[in-house]
Amino acid sequence: MTQDELKQLAAEQAVQYIEEDEIVGVGTGSTVNFFIDALAQKKHLIKGAVSSSDASTERLKQHGIPVFELTAIDRLPVYIDGADESNHLLELIKGGGAALTREKIIAAVAERFICIADESKLVKKLGNFPLPVEVIPMARSHVARELVKLGGDPVYRQGVVTDNGNHILDVHNLDIIQPIALEQKINQIVGVVTNGLFAARGADVLLIASKGGVKTMT
Ligand code: 5RP
Repeated sequence: MTQDELKQLAAEQAVQYIEEDEIVGVGTGSTVNFFIDALAQKKHLIKGAVSSSDASTERLKQHGIPVFELTAIDRLPVYIDGADESNHLLELIKGGGAALTREKIIAAVAERFICIADESKLVKKLGNFPLPVEVIPMARSHVARELVKLGGDPVYRQGVVTDNGNHILDVHNLDIIQPIALEQKINQIVGVVTNGLFAARGADVLLIASKGGVKTMT
């Protein structure tokens, strides 16, 4: 099976987690695109979605799924999103698609975060995938210098402006021994909007697809 077929397998499994007459939180990325397509088949069952990016909003609307502002809702039972890496504690690295800040906000609101991924994303230790950090543009060099002090090698993601109008630094070679502590430390650097470690609030369920099927990890 191809990686895309595995992503689709995990995405289709996630549809069983949606709650009827409720709003579904929707992440961003190629795995989530498969989820949105599968969700479209069940759209009559849900009220609509909140979306973590302009790209996902567009795809949801193309399928005729109503998209709500997060500020307009008071309950979000489930959030479905992909990841760039997950460890066995379901701590994640996200942000490969530059949507990390809105993703982290929706994950914080959601009662359950269901992460969908193909088996290549499951790792023993986080950090082989460079950690995305969203920064206020004028703070980019300052934040980069601070990240070097933490042992990382930040690289400016050229030409990318986030949906919030900010820039991304991808930090290579970090030794992520304590994901929660590092997540907090990076967020304290002035000028950082947020970073792609989803450890303080990781996933509740990981649906991980391999050619043997989809394994549910909790
Ligand atoms: C976007 C993300 C995505 O979930 C992550 O990059 C995984 O993407 P894909 O499903 O395309 O492999 O965090 O900001």
